[in-house]
Amino acid sequence: MSNPPLRLGVLVSGRGSNLEAIIHAGPSVQMNATVAVVISDRAQSQALEHARRSQIPAIHLNPKTHASREDYDTEVVRLLREHRADLVVLAGYMRLITSRLIEPYRNRIINIHPSLLPSFPGLHAHRQALEWGVRISGCTVHFVNEAMDQGPIIIQAAVPVLDGDTEEMLEARVLEQEHRILPQAIQFLAEDRLEISGRRVVLRSPKPTAGMKVVSPMIELGFNQ
Ligand code: GRF
Repeated sequence: MSNPPLRLGVLVSGRGSNLEAIIHAGPSVQMNATVAVVISDRAQSQALEHARRSQIPAIHLNPKTHASREDYDTEVVRLLREHRADLVVLAGYMRLITSRLIEPYRNRIINIHPSLLPSFPGLHAHRQALEWGVRISGCTVHFVNEAMDQGPIIIQAAVPVLDGDTEEMLEARVLEQEHRILPQAIQFLAEDRLEISGRRVVLRSPKPTAGMKVVSPMIELGFNQ
């Protein structure tokens, strides 16, 4: 018998395109997971609207009503538990999280970041990539620990940086890959196939051919010519 679906608690701040990718995952990734609750630190977050449209509990938790970041995260944990979330997904969540959230969900929190980490952590990853003149950028899904954007890497996808790219153009190209690798990483967790070994994440593969740790759509984009 297959495992019951993994229950996701998704933390968001903005547009929510990654949340949508999770909600509507497939057909490329059959995710054995369901979004149990969406929590946003911003009332205006479009992600909350996406959730409500899909009849998913959507909560705005206002940071101003909490004395500290720790108090805020304590309330986040309470809500996650209330909705029986097994895995926490940071999908465009703009707040730094504290040990109050990390401890109870140790190795059960993942984040999507729009660069090939460890390059360009923090804000404005695409701007940093363009300023550095890298030829390849991409995105990373990683476990979250106390060090910002430095947790063990689960999947990365690479995209070319093209002459004349603006931040918006690069963002759009990277975003397409984010929407592929985030559901894939969730599915690996749903299948209980990830093992953390120091900095590294080992992907247990039931079949020799299964599994995807790296996505390189550069060939699909005709970049090999
Ligand atoms: C994405 O680029 C994600 O990598 C970053 O924030 C952005 C969120 O976009 N952490 P969206 O809200 O999922 O559309």
